[in-house]
Amino acid sequence: MLEVRNLSVNYYVDEGTVNAVAGVTFNLKEGEILGILGESGSGKSTLGFALLRLVDRPGEIVSGEIILNGLDILLMPERELRRVRGAQIAMVFQDPFTALNPVLTIGEQIMEPIVLHQGVKRGEARAKAAEALRAVKIDPARIDDYPHQFSGGMRQRVVIAMALACRPKILIADEPTTALDVTIQAEILALLREIKNQFNLSIIYITHNFGIIRQLCDRVVVMHRGAIVEEGKTHLVFDQPKEPYTKKLVDCLRELG
Ligand SMILES: Nc1ncnc2c1ncn2[C@@H]1O[C@H](COP(=O)(O)OP(=O)(O)O)[C@@H](O)[C@H]1O
Ligand SMILES: [Mg+2]
Repeated sequence: MLEVRNLSVNYYVDEGTVNAVAGVTFNLKEGEILGILGESGSGKSTLGFALLRLVDRPGEIVSGEIILNGLDILLMPERELRRVRGAQIAMVFQDPFTALNPVLTIGEQIMEPIVLHQGVKRGEARAKAAEALRAVKIDPARIDDYPHQFSGGMRQRVVIAMALACRPKILIADEPTTALDVTIQAEILALLREIKNQFNLSIIYITHNFGIIRQLCDRVVVMHRGAIVEEGKTHLVFDQPKEPYTKKLVDCLRELG
């Protein structure tokens, strides 16, 4: 359903050119959770941003195709692109503290993309926001509360509700549980699995943690220095890693127990 071909992204910095994503090719199948695994600095976040053409200076997408429903995201006019962002592909970022605006209620923040993309009246948008809260298991009675009234894990649920609000087909989650403690992390992973089924989502889950990939993902691509070094069904890659780099990541996890 999403096909990425030969995607490359550079950052042009004083020290020279960083080839953060280096000719990456993979696809996301309908209904699957695809993991993108790699150490810090391997280009995972840059890849996630590039999928929505959200790379800014000093970065630039220098080549590739990102085909969604037969159309190349990289060739779309701005207007069409805005319809893709949020409405077809939504993104959840690592830090639930900076992703929310502290001076707006959570309801206002969930309603914003709904009003923007669907052009519905506020009353209807509010009803949809309440529905999104219910989907992430937050009591809709809290719709007028502010972010500071929620814990870290609950805030990440709010961020997921925002992402779900326009009923996207694809969710990109970039280390959404890294800032959370382990119990809360497990709850968020369970929630993602549930909403995937409920909303017929396909998910790209970005993380440096092979443990999470094993719990959550059907398939994994392993990134190293901007390139994909290995990919396959999660259990196969975990049990019989082909590349030394992947083997190292597996050994790391085994040592942690
Ligand atoms: N805004 C930026 N400006 C310059 N270099 C960047 C920027 N963002 C990321 N990079 C570089 O691109 C590479 C990949 O980074 P990133 O995509 O954040 O990796 P990951 O998410 O896997 O940690 C790193 O070498 C990083 O230093
Ligand atoms: Mg990152």
